[in-house]
Amino acid sequence: HPPVSQMEETSLLRRANCRSKGGASGFKVAILGAAGGIGQPLALLMKMNPLVSVLHLYDVVNAPGVTADISHMNTGAVVRGFLGQPQLEDALAGMDLVVIPAGVPRKPGMTRDDLFNINAGIVKTLCEGIVKCCPKAVVNLISNPVNSTVPIAAEVFKKAGTYDSKRLLGVTMLDVVRANTFVVDETLQSLSSSSAEVLGIDPRDVNVPVVGGHAGVTILPLLSQVNPPCSFTPEEISYLTDRIQNGGTEVVEAKAGAGSATLSMAYAAAKFADACLRGLRGDAGVVECSFVASQVTELPFFASKVRLGRCGVEEVLPLGPLNEFERARLEKAKKELAVSIQKGVSFIRK
Ligand code: NAI
Repeated sequence: HPPVSQMEETSLLRRANCRSKGGASGFKVAILGAAGGIGQPLALLMKMNPLVSVLHLYDVVNAPGVTADISHMNTGAVVRGFLGQPQLEDALAGMDLVVIPAGVPRKPGMTRDDLFNINAGIVKTLCEGIVKCCPKAVVNLISNPVNSTVPIAAEVFKKAGTYDSKRLLGVTMLDVVRANTFVVDETLQSLSSSSAEVLGIDPRDVNVPVVGGHAGVTILPLLSQVNPPCSFTPEEISYLTDRIQNGGTEVVEAKAGAGSATLSMAYAAAKFADACLRGLRGDAGVVECSFVASQVTELPFFASKVRLGRCGVEEVLPLGPLNEFERARLEKAKKELAVSIQKGVSFIRK
């Protein structure tokens, strides 16, 4: 990637500001891990987002190829590619939002925690770059295990004195996207006709809060709070909860060694990044679920609904009333979450 002169830079930005619907206020977004299974379709979707004026694509392989390809799309954002560690700082300088899908994905038989040894180090390095070049950026962390990588990022930022808990968000949106899809899924039809009221509804109009974390039993869909309201039998609740918790494994097994969810994840990440950008722009009422620093439970991090605003997380919303099934599952989730969070913290403090 050739160095860009001041003049070229100015002209690129002028083009970006003219072409983007966000005008001069268009946002600068970096994707770290942009050449990967998630990174590529996510780059495509972010290039289509009118709120984005500059899109930086960073990876340790194939970033120039993906950048050349994406840059031919006739949408507003100006795209620039960055390859390898020596270009990380340029990739991050001045960014408003940094989305991180860098790292290895699961293969059949693996848990998300099995990825810790490789991904923890990758996340640490990338967060050290953020400290140096864009400490005020909002960070969307996708790399697994999210339950540990978010605490890792927080520790890196704390160590450097730049930590702002409002700006660090673990991406659990795919769990919500799956939950919304599965409750409308035709498989429900075969379970009971009492759920017929949810059939025929566009999954985009359904909203299932998913709280806890992003791995197995820590993924806790609150099916008692589905909007629009609908009632499920105990069998349906048990089936749906298990399917939502194991949605990732469903994809890993279907891909049979070729990776984990990438396309649905890119969709979910783009939706979440868009919500963060709308929050940064000052839109009111932007609420999504995310794994963040939290006082909703006794744990230091927890996923729940958050209100997004000009500074990132404006407010962590309470869990709302839980039924007996959800309270029991919450206790289970918290036990595993506590261990995963501690593992992340210890990785930096050791
Ligand atoms: P992938 O292997 O297809 O892509 C990962 C990319 O990261 C590769 O292009 C690789 O070159 C790059 N990379 C590796 N080390 C890097 C470094 N130091 N700096 C920058 N880039 C680096 O993997 P995929 O499928 O895109 O998954 C990425 C991560 O996202 C995995 O950890 C996966 O478990 C996680 N994931 C998270 C989900 C969530 O809901 N939060 C859902 C699905 C996957």
